[in-house]
Amino acid sequence: MVDFKSSNMISVGEAMVELAPMGEGLYKRGFAGDTFNTAWHIAQALHGRASVGFATRVGMDRISDAFVAELADDGLDVSVITRDRQRTMGLYLIELDGVERSFHYWRDTSAARGLTADGGALAQAFGGAGLIHLSGITLAILPPADREILFAALAEARANGARVSFDPNIRPRLWPSMDAVHLTIPQVLALTDIALPSFDDEVAVWGDTSPEDTLARFAAAGVAEVAVKNGAGPVSVLADGQIRTLPTPEVKGIRDTTGAGDGFNAGYLSARLLGQTPQMAVLAGQRFSAEVIQHLGARLPRALIPSLP
Ligand SMILES: Nc1ncnc2c1ncn2[C@@H]1O[C@H](COP(=O)(O)OP(=O)(O)O)[C@@H](O)[C@H]1O
Ligand SMILES: [Mg+2]
Repeated sequence: MVDFKSSNMISVGEAMVELAPMGEGLYKRGFAGDTFNTAWHIAQALHGRASVGFATRVGMDRISDAFVAELADDGLDVSVITRDRQRTMGLYLIELDGVERSFHYWRDTSAARGLTADGGALAQAFGGAGLIHLSGITLAILPPADREILFAALAEARANGARVSFDPNIRPRLWPSMDAVHLTIPQVLALTDIALPSFDDEVAVWGDTSPEDTLARFAAAGVAEVAVKNGAGPVSVLADGQIRTLPTPEVKGIRDTTGAGDGFNAGYLSARLLGQTPQMAVLAGQRFSAEVIQHLGARLPRALIPSLP
């Protein structure tokens, strides 16, 4: 079983300013982003038991200041955030058409795209971590040369005993081409200990015909532990060379599935950092995502964070 030299973790990626509709053309400002949502939930779940950092790059403006202050207030390690004098955070706006939500992004020039600009800071941030988490979105937003800087930092951290978790979260629109996806994903899988893909994404990119196909592909790429999420369907897990299929409990009153996968990752990784087995971690992931999809937005109110034994 994949084990950890420390339960401290760092998640790497982009958080954006979120504008969520409140009616009559009014919007509420928040912050969200896949690896950020995951880090934030883990920080709440492991409060007082582990240090959780979010490694990103933001601006030097007041909204970026507010973001960093909110994270610090919520108990995250913000020492791993760097600042860009010229750029600001990316932004997205949610539009509602009945219950359907569509997302409009302004993120092409976000500060987070330069998150490897200070490669030394990144390597240092990874230094004490037992686990480093990233996603395909983290990779998609980086210029190719900067991906190499990130890969080098991950390889060095792994050589020093850190584990790496990866959620492919493939968003074709963020990538320059499907060829870029097909070339980059194997590179990161070679550095990954725990993979947390969603079956839908993998079907679209690789043509998998079953979650077992997905497990087999990740195993062949050298990933030791894999949990394939599949919406309301069962979660398929590979750990210690064994495959298990764990049913997903029915969830009533689903309001907004945004962030379901990020919430699952948070529950799963929190449980694993506490030394629980992959099977127990799937249950934790399902509890987190069940809460997330019963609420609007990708992050839960703090009082509703499931507690972990
Ligand atoms: N309709 C649903 N019913 C019950 N659980 C769900 C449902 N949709 C998502 N989930 C939970 O959220 C997890 C992640 O959902 P999924 O849709 O596979 O990921 P993503 O949000 O990355 O596309 C699932 O493993 C499951 O635990
Ligand atoms: Mg996902």
